[in-house]
Amino acid sequence: MSERAAGGGPVTVRTLRRMKAEGRRIAALTAYDASFAAILDEAGVDVVLVGDSLGMVVQGHDSTVPVTLEDMVYHARAVARGCRRALRVVDMPFGSYGDPRAAFESAVRLMREGGAQVVKLEGGAVQREVVRHLSERGIPVCAHLGLTPQWVHKLGGYRLQGREREAAERMRAEARLLEAAGAELLVLECVPAALAARIRDELAIPVIGIGAGAGCDGQVLVLYDLLGVTAGPRFARDFLAGRGSVREAVAAYVAAVREGSFPGPEETLA
Ligand code: KIV
Repeated sequence: MSERAAGGGPVTVRTLRRMKAEGRRIAALTAYDASFAAILDEAGVDVVLVGDSLGMVVQGHDSTVPVTLEDMVYHARAVARGCRRALRVVDMPFGSYGDPRAAFESAVRLMREGGAQVVKLEGGAVQREVVRHLSERGIPVCAHLGLTPQWVHKLGGYRLQGREREAAERMRAEARLLEAAGAELLVLECVPAALAARIRDELAIPVIGIGAGAGCDGQVLVLYDLLGVTAGPRFARDFLAGRGSVREAVAAYVAAVREGSFPGPEETLA
């Protein structure tokens, strides 16, 4: 059941916390323009993420590194025009949050000009002060651990993170640290399902997974992977295949997330 169907108004970070507490799964998707944002919003998607994945799927780059703050403001503003109910989370692009002061200026632009309601940033312990600085100044933050695409050149590729014991322990500790610093949400990308489920249990804030198994509080996918426009990673599913419209595909995704049938075993990494 969507939040609207449940009698809710616009989705807020409080709504998402309540959903976690009540065991209702959160459906999130990326969007980069007003028309798709409106379809997602009407289909009951709870969180629309203006992801810097737009650098790859919209702009055609081979990573998210070239995406600028101007790009994010432009796409966030377009998405805001299409959304009525869903919570709008917007990525802080690479290089825009290197210290608390720079992060604050970037986040203010994303909120004031782009209509962001939450800003998302990548990284663990190193981001503690940035998260605290933003959170204490009224800027809700979504943290992002596991495969952090802006770090691709440091990570040496797009691959599963947290498989070794030490890396898994570090990720658990960093998740707790980011929550303590004031993060409102956490995205876990490309993480073994058991580790993601453990982190989910250890945090009060909602944990939204992508390639992190069904044990998270919610799921997010890149819209173009869900529509089969891009050849998505193994953990994605083409929801348009066998369906007649984008609306049906998005509705099927929302239903599958709510009932826990997405991701399935074949879309789960160990
Ligand atoms: O940029 C993006 O789309 C993201 C998701 C993959 C979580 O960060």
